[in-house]
Amino acid sequence: MEAVVASKPVIKVAAICGSLRKASYNRGLIRTALELTKESIAGIQMEYIDISPLPMLDTDLEVDGKFPPAVEAFRQKILEADSILIASPEYNYSLTAPLKNALDWASRPPNVWADKAAAIVSAGGGFGGARSHYHLRQVGVFLDLHFINKPEFYLNAFQPPAKFDSDGNLIDEDSKERMKQVLLSLQAFTLRLQPKN
Ligand SMILES: Cc1cc2nc3c(=O)[nH]c(=O)nc-3n(C[C@H](O)[C@H](O)[C@H](O)COP(=O)(O)O)c2cc1C
Repeated sequence: MEAVVASKPVIKVAAICGSLRKASYNRGLIRTALELTKESIAGIQMEYIDISPLPMLDTDLEVDGKFPPAVEAFRQKILEADSILIASPEYNYSLTAPLKNALDWASRPPNVWADKAAAIVSAGGGFGGARSHYHLRQVGVFLDLHFINKPEFYLNAFQPPAKFDSDGNLIDEDSKERMKQVLLSLQAFTLRLQPKN
């Protein structure tokens, strides 16, 4: 935490997305979150952290206690964050391989996820990616991530009317409001987890 806004400390949130595709709906959700933290929510400094440069996990790439440069940079960003926003698409009823890869790299000792607050959002098919949330929550037990329980936000991206434009930008106002409520809950929970003094 750095500054203080209207007696509330500013929290740093690292936002990551489990989809690598250009017009990803899930990355669209992160863009909405970034906009909200700039325009209508005070006290959150959010940064999008791209997981696409990470190599596939191979512990042989760890040499003399050092990780490959892209991994070092990613781990440092996570370490510096107070909490994490994860946009988690559902692949075959679970979280995606790129997201699991990123979670695994940053879990290598010392585990840089430890004791951070986190929130999950998703967009996808029938259940909006919801099933990925519950696998991700299970992984978070060992990572020592503390997920907010409510509100839950998963969005069926394919049900009319259109929720996203062709570039993957969220255009649905109700969903933007739901995202805002997730961010407010994450902010409150992050502050609750901060040591008091
Ligand atoms: C390998 C693969 C498996 C998928 N499995 C599921 C699934 O189990 N449930 C679901 O709702 N959607 C599934 N989908 C569809 C994705 O949810 C959909 O492509 C979504 O748009 C992906 O997120 P993105 O737009 O951020 O890339 C799958 C897509 C792929 C590529």
